[in-house]
Amino acid sequence: MKTCIKNIRELVGIVPAGVRRKQGVEMNETGTLRDAFLLMEDGRIAAFGKMEDMPAADEYIDAEGGMVLPSFCDSHTHIVYAGSRDGEFLDKINGLTYEQIAARGGGILNSSDLLHRTSEDELYEQSMERVREMVAKGTGALEIKSGYGLNPEDEMKMLRVIRRIKKNTPALVKSTFLGAHAVGRGYTHEEYVRSVCEEMIPRVAAEGLADFVDVFCDEGFFTVEDTDLILEAGAKYGLRSKIHANELAVSGGVQVGVKHHALSVDHLERTTDDEIACLRGSDTMPTMLPGSSFFLGLPYGRAKDYIHAGLGVALASDYNPGSSPSGDMRFVWALACIQMRLTPVQAFNALTLNAACAMGVSDEVGSITAGKRANLILTRPLQSLTMIPYQYQTPWIQRHFVAGIQY
Ligand code: NIG
Ligand code: FE
Repeated sequence: MKTCIKNIRELVGIVPAGVRRKQGVEMNETGTLRDAFLLMEDGRIAAFGKMEDMPAADEYIDAEGGMVLPSFCDSHTHIVYAGSRDGEFLDKINGLTYEQIAARGGGILNSSDLLHRTSEDELYEQSMERVREMVAKGTGALEIKSGYGLNPEDEMKMLRVIRRIKKNTPALVKSTFLGAHAVGRGYTHEEYVRSVCEEMIPRVAAEGLADFVDVFCDEGFFTVEDTDLILEAGAKYGLRSKIHANELAVSGGVQVGVKHHALSVDHLERTTDDEIACLRGSDTMPTMLPGSSFFLGLPYGRAKDYIHAGLGVALASDYNPGSSPSGDMRFVWALACIQMRLTPVQAFNALTLNAACAMGVSDEVGSITAGKRANLILTRPLQSLTMIPYQYQTPWIQRHFVAGIQY
């Protein structure tokens, strides 16, 4: 079945095959084509070009002056969780910080207790609802982390839920083992790190439940030394690393991540020039999560400085119950422009191709490239891409196709 989208005002995000990310000045541009068609076949982009060259198809969709963009890729989420943390939201309003809430037994441990009491089926239903919400808002690929289990059984339960989501959503899903998100109840710090390395990672790997391993390398959570051990244990079992670093303090997490060839280092609300220097020449994608800066009142990452230094950056939602209870990448786009002063095009590249790269799938999604999955957003009529983050509350998605099917 060939479906052709015709009369596209502008096709945005055209990238030659084989280009996995954009860096430095490349982030200032994106391939575009005006007055275009795009042909989908078997869930993939089969061809695109100028309207005058439009081929025959079985079915036509008239874009009526809308633009077509690749769907968002959200390379950092924690959407498998139970219930919510609305009580802590009130604590936060009353002046407690993220660290103070965590120190009182709230935060990640609160979510872990809730998850322990929730059945696997119920956890799946609640999480799948969030996935549907994200897809409705334009996300076509997402990474999901464990990390609210904090013991072998409950971490496995979370990862099985992610496996079930992978099977049942049209979106492309990657799964990350984040056992080292906080020390689980009943363990000393050392016992817990040992369990992550010697018990959990081998079990996760034996069942093929994770694509990546992640560590919350930050003040009050896991040290650089812990991180080194955990990433090494992950690598032994073929798990590429991702890192949470520099959210609460400059943690050394970027350096240990680069040492282990991490796919991405994420958060980076607090960065010195050393982190930027360390990332230059590496394969690691710096990823910023402006939704958590917004929600927690933290500094926004210095994305512009990274780009000026010749690096690429990715943007993700960090959707989780404690620091970013939203998976809306449209809002992330607006925050990146308004608060981080990225241009609309720089932010677009960070939300699509570079975010795909940060989750190891930029050969498959993240751009308009023949052969990639037909994960596409058809917009309402728009005069420019800038209108999207500018009129940040105006609905602009007309249709969203994931693997060629409309959602
Ligand atoms: O990425 N920083 C660590 N983990 C999450 C927050 C998790 C939570 O509070 O539940 C984050 O912000
Ligand atoms: Fe996170």
